[in-house]
Amino acid sequence: DLYNFRQIGPDTKVHGVIGNPIGHSKSPHIYNAAFKSVEFNGIYLPLLVDSVSNFLKTYSSPDFAGYSYTIPHKVDGLRYCDEVDPIAKAIGAISCMIKRPNDGKLVGYNVDYLGAIAAIEEGLRESNGRTGSCSPLAGKLFVIMGAGGAGKALAYGGKEKGARVVVANRTHAKAKELACKVGGEALTLSELENFHPEEGMVLANTTSVGMKPKIDETPVPKEALKHYSLVFDAIYTPKLTRLLREAQETGAAIVYGTEMFINQAFVQYEKFTGLPAPKQLIRDVIARNT
Ligand code: ATR
Repeated sequence: DLYNFRQIGPDTKVHGVIGNPIGHSKSPHIYNAAFKSVEFNGIYLPLLVDSVSNFLKTYSSPDFAGYSYTIPHKVDGLRYCDEVDPIAKAIGAISCMIKRPNDGKLVGYNVDYLGAIAAIEEGLRESNGRTGSCSPLAGKLFVIMGAGGAGKALAYGGKEKGARVVVANRTHAKAKELACKVGGEALTLSELENFHPEEGMVLANTTSVGMKPKIDETPVPKEALKHYSLVFDAIYTPKLTRLLREAQETGAAIVYGTEMFINQAFVQYEKFTGLPAPKQLIRDVIARNT
């Protein structure tokens, strides 16, 4: 069923996900089903790759239109782009590479963070009932726990949306370094307990605290959560982390980590095809394959 569509012809746009291992990837299911649903003449393959450099040299076919990058090639992939989106450059990793149709240049993006930011924006819009083109994160105090890869991505993404960014990390030096880069404030995780300069802040967890099997842990005590209007957790195993459960009990809107994955698939599909993503279909494929 995965590749059950038209014949591959000279106009077929070839896509794939570059990683190692790759057998577990859900991306071929998502993109092939989505391409088929709108009769987009494209194919999406799982590509087991040891060396990105060798792979791109060998398969620099003009037919290929774009690649996704996954573990362990997200950092290495950046070196082989002709151009890199400024945020992907700042994060130091790409999650997809698109061949620009007009000049054939390879352009690297990081859509992981766009997925998280889009999920948070959607959660804010749903909870305050507002629509409109302006980001609901603009002007908000956006507190990000963690300063690793995902923390960096959310800090840059938040800044881009006009949020006032606060980075809270166990190791203060790393929080400070990131906060300096994005023009935000730095705290330790324990300082976060008494940090409530205003109400209605947005909180995002990018640390691994609360991830399976340590599901009883949480990065911040429940009492501190009452100052937030929305809490997002990048962890998706379990779906309902202790942090999200306690945020819900406190009355905050919550956004699951799974929404980050779903939203990054929407953004990437739009980059690959230039078409709006068939959102319900992608949600259904993910639900069936996870
Ligand atoms: P990722 O790419 O998923 O962000 P990472 O780069 O390894 O992963 O970053 C992990 C983050 O989780 C870091 O911010 C780390 O804090 P430190 O910089 O202090 O190491 C945070 N983290 C991991 N385990 C933690 C724990 N037990 N308590 C608090 N923070 C933790």
